Amino acid sequence: MEHLKYLQKVTFFCEMNKSDLRRIVKIGKKQIVLQGRTIFNENTSGERFYIVISGRIKIFTISGEKKKTLAILEKGEFFGEMALLDMEPRSASSIALQDSELIVIKKQDFRKLLAKQPNIAFQIMKTISQRLRQADKEIEALTFGDVIGRLANTLLELAKKYGQNSPEGIKINMPFSHQDIAELIGTGREMVSRVLNRFRRLNCITYSGRLLVLTNRDKLKQWVR
Ligand code: CMP
Repeated sequence: MEHLKYLQKVTFFCEMNKSDLRRIVKIGKKQIVLQGRTIFNENTSGERFYIVISGRIKIFTISGEKKKTLAILEKGEFFGEMALLDMEPRSASSIALQDSELIVIKKQDFRKLLAKQPNIAFQIMKTISQRLRQADKEIEALTFGDVIGRLANTLLELAKKYGQNSPEGIKINMPFSHQDIAELIGTGREMVSRVLNRFRRLNCITYSGRLLVLTNRDKLKQWVR
């Protein structure tokens, strides 16, 4: 039950009452996944639902040589629900970016939980709606936007999620390589390096070690179309 207090504080769980949370923690098993380990692969059958207790999980797809990051999930976020709901194979792969602690719930228990607890089902639907909204925005950017606009927008989103004020500006407090960013926005690494150099020359960004810093957020916003 040590997780109960903790879960109450994070994202979608904070709107759940204590007994719903207790139910989730009771039917789940704790699992530690080491950095770099795959949790499941795209197109395999889905047997479990996962809640992130600590660490970071990347959700991604691969097409030929190209990778696309769909999401980076953190404490209090969940994944693996889609295959358990529509009984189709996994829509994406998942890998631990850091040593991570998960709560794992078996398919049958997950389906029973949703059938019996409308409040939990509602919270999950709410999160799925938010993810669809985010995916719609990405489709729009991929359809109508250019790489510069998409990169500016992604930097602003990363600053919202991982940003920390520093004397130079808003520091994105998680290292993202040019390749990581390319996989987030759906382009090549060379293109990302080129655009980031341009943003640096325009004094929109700088680096603090391996971390990106937004030195002029308003100027960066002007690139978002
Ligand atoms: P499932 O299809 O079972 O396995 C892959 C999981 O990745 C999927 O369930 C969702 O939980 C998660 N996922 C897929 N697409 C997205 C997305 N666009 N944003 C966040 N999570 C996603």
